[in-house]
Amino acid sequence: MNPRHGSKPIVCDESPGKKAYCQCGHSEKLPYCDGAHSRLQTGVTPIVIEVTDAGKKAVCQCHKSGTLPWCDGTHSKLGA
Ligand code: FES
Repeated sequence: MNPRHGSKPIVCDESPGKKAYCQCGHSEKLPYCDGAHSRLQTGVTPIVIEVTDAGKKAVCQCHKSGTLPWCDGTHSKLGA
């Protein structure tokens, strides 16, 4: 488990545009990347995508989703 990522998604009211979602778990602005992966040389880079539609999005924090960066419910099948 990454340091700040949990076992449940972060739900955010997303707006369209280019987004970078943290994958290293060290960002202070989760679910977004704040550059911590570079500062800490984690070797893990964010998922950068173009969000095309506004609305509530569940951003995966367990890293097991089949539809990263979005939650697909896989976290609910994982053990504690
Ligand atoms: S947080 Fe839901 S699948 Fe990862």
